[in-house]
Amino acid sequence: MSRRVLIAGNWKMNGLLSDGVALAHSIAERAWDKNCSLLVCPPATLLMAVGEEFADTPVAVGGQDCHVAENGAHTGDISASMLADLHCRYIITGHSERRADHGETDEIVQAKAKAAWAAGMAAIICVGETEAEREAGDTLSVISSQCAGSIPDGATAKNTVIAYEPVWAIGTGKTATPDDAQAVHAHIRADLAKRFDDDMAARTRILYGGSMKPSNAADLLAQPDIDGGLIGGASMKAEDFLAIADAVPQDA
Ligand code: PGA
Repeated sequence: MSRRVLIAGNWKMNGLLSDGVALAHSIAERAWDKNCSLLVCPPATLLMAVGEEFADTPVAVGGQDCHVAENGAHTGDISASMLADLHCRYIITGHSERRADHGETDEIVQAKAKAAWAAGMAAIICVGETEAEREAGDTLSVISSQCAGSIPDGATAKNTVIAYEPVWAIGTGKTATPDDAQAVHAHIRADLAKRFDDDMAARTRILYGGSMKPSNAADLLAQPDIDGGLIGGASMKAEDFLAIADAVPQDA
């Protein structure tokens, strides 16, 4: 079952207008002829300018978060329809930094994924265990319970991408080994098959995130159940981001 690999950059809270536009420009120039889909999720303040750089290129833009409501009295928040209005195709939901910094529960993450769908976008739903949970041998049960709570009923391969991001690997330089990551990805896919069906599970993309970089991308992306990457630090350098895209296996 072929799944189109997705290489997604998450710029997090980084970049002023001039840096963001320059970075987008250098990615856009060399984004052609990749064996994968490309996505960049800049801070909301840069979406318009970065979106212009990526117009008529193979690079899509996405949001890093959205509010659960469509509009209303929520000072400082951004709705999914506002992101769709700026041509976003995806919204990251439930990143571990939002779960930790903003107390986002599985229930909130699920509501945000539904908000992304309602505005016509796909949700990239993030799950991942902490170091303590991994050491306690709880990785697979934590991941199952986050998936069960965060993925809404009605998920399809079109409206949903899962990102497995071990919390201990994010921004730390520590990466899950390809075998460890593969084991979790296979587990997530088996859960999807149980809850939805085999076809949905076989078609849904599961990305790996956590210190993915040019030097480890090829080994991670060669795993049968790793269908791309959600990349933080290395997505802020055009050559690294593009080198990761170039590491996608030719037969992917
Ligand atoms: P990192 O971040 O690549 O800097 O580890 C990944 C992420 O948080 O999505």
